[in-house]
Amino acid sequence: MKICCIGAGYVGGPTMAKIAQKCEKIEVTVVDMNPDRIAAWQTDELPVYEPGLLEVVKEARGRNLFFSTDVDAKIKEADIVFICVNTPTKTFGIGAGKAADLQYVEKCARQIASVSDSDKIIVEKSTLPVRTAESIKRILDSTGSSNKFQVLSNPEFLAEGTAMADLENPDRVLIGGETTEEGQAAVQKLVDVYAEWVPRENILTTNLWSSELSKLTANAFLAQRISSINAISALCEATGADVDEVAYAIGRDSRIGPKFLKSSVGFGGSCFQKDILNLVYLCNHFGLSSVADYWESVVQMNDYQKRRFSQRIVRTLFNTVSGKKIAILGFAFKKDTNDTRESAAIHVCKDLLEEGGHLAIYDPKVTTAQIYSDLGIDESNTQVSIHKDAYSAADKAHAVAILTEWDVLKEDQTDYNKVFDSMEKPAFFFDGRNLVDLEVLRKIGFEAHGIGKP
Ligand code: UDX
Ligand code: ADP
Repeated sequence: MKICCIGAGYVGGPTMAKIAQKCEKIEVTVVDMNPDRIAAWQTDELPVYEPGLLEVVKEARGRNLFFSTDVDAKIKEADIVFICVNTPTKTFGIGAGKAADLQYVEKCARQIASVSDSDKIIVEKSTLPVRTAESIKRILDSTGSSNKFQVLSNPEFLAEGTAMADLENPDRVLIGGETTEEGQAAVQKLVDVYAEWVPRENILTTNLWSSELSKLTANAFLAQRISSINAISALCEATGADVDEVAYAIGRDSRIGPKFLKSSVGFGGSCFQKDILNLVYLCNHFGLSSVADYWESVVQMNDYQKRRFSQRIVRTLFNTVSGKKIAILGFAFKKDTNDTRESAAIHVCKDLLEEGGHLAIYDPKVTTAQIYSDLGIDESNTQVSIHKDAYSAADKAHAVAILTEWDVLKEDQTDYNKVFDSMEKPAFFFDGRNLVDLEVLRKIGFEAHGIGKP
């Protein structure tokens, strides 16, 4: 059996590496139109940073895992084609700011239709609006050829930073297909691939639409928990309660559970906001405006949290950061990834730059070029400098802000005495991740602020 995966990004790369590692008899090729990305997958400097990924890639690469820019040839050879291309939020036209931009998915479908000369199973892995499978099928079936295509939905639930563990041991694998005999046969074929390492009872099969909607719903529920605890964090700051204590207390209720209750400067990543806006668009499309408003408020609360954090910095620094140096520790949207998509850091930094602040940014994995690009400035901009560690970033700074919960920023790995000593006084500390103990920082001399902390 041959698998071709279109899209060598954060989803396609790790997922295919895992399938290739576990299914030695299947030839897996990941294709991408971006030659630099494909070239990087063939080196030890992978384009995606993910703990444990390089080891898995090295085990399978050249054996049954390949990377190629020859998209047409690899699609043609394949029995199963995974679509793992990006589906950003539309920035123009109908649905701008909410609907998913499906141009890359549609291009894939057209490409598959035009080059195929045999029957194939097409698997949507990118998160897509409900009923996208129908559009894909229409494009595939409109070629007039006698080839038969079965479209399956197999959403990916991996989280970045823990992708390899999530793929090794998924809570569940979800596969949606048509209820026809051919549809069910295709579902079974994909079930057999995952069953090489995932227990059968963890492989769920549903109809196409349930599968597509489950992915949007899962992300909406997860993001909703974060917005809920972040909303409470604002109330904690007003009342003197401690949000971590509240989260712990409510998480002990087995009906609520302890996970995903860490208040923060706001959720980021390529999925949460995009998928909720997608859901909102879908609800409005079906005339369900109250449902749409309900979910949209999760994103609004997240925007509020990010803005609240930058405003707090400005207010605390005597209502002005103009000309002041602020060290930004962490730029990725979460630890253990070099991904910055929708990172709260981008919003906070932009706010502070607008206020005239000078930012000294340190992130252990994000490249300098990526930071400049995210901030929409070029490297000649004197308001921003990039640093190789927290000490250099904090040198002569007026304030320090932790925006990503990297382990290297914890008290046992970063010497905050040293950070404090090099700063302008009074020295302010803003912990957007509640990573360090504020009392320890206060003893050193910092005026320290956390999220939802007294
Ligand atoms: C998410 C989903 O978890 C995953 O199942 C889906 O496939 C893709 O979207 P990801 O975006 O990679 O994964 O990371 P996740 O760990 O969910 O974190 C998302 C954001 O929420 C990060 O910015 C993170 O820092 C933030 N977060 C998470 C919190 O602020 N508090 C929490 O308690 C958990
Ligand atoms: P994700 O997080 O969903 O994996 P990425 O942006 O990291 O998203 O990866 C998507 C990849 O898909 C990109 O590398 C992009 O070049 C690739 N891609 C998009 N459209 C096509 C296409 N029609 N053919 C080949 N590759 C494509």
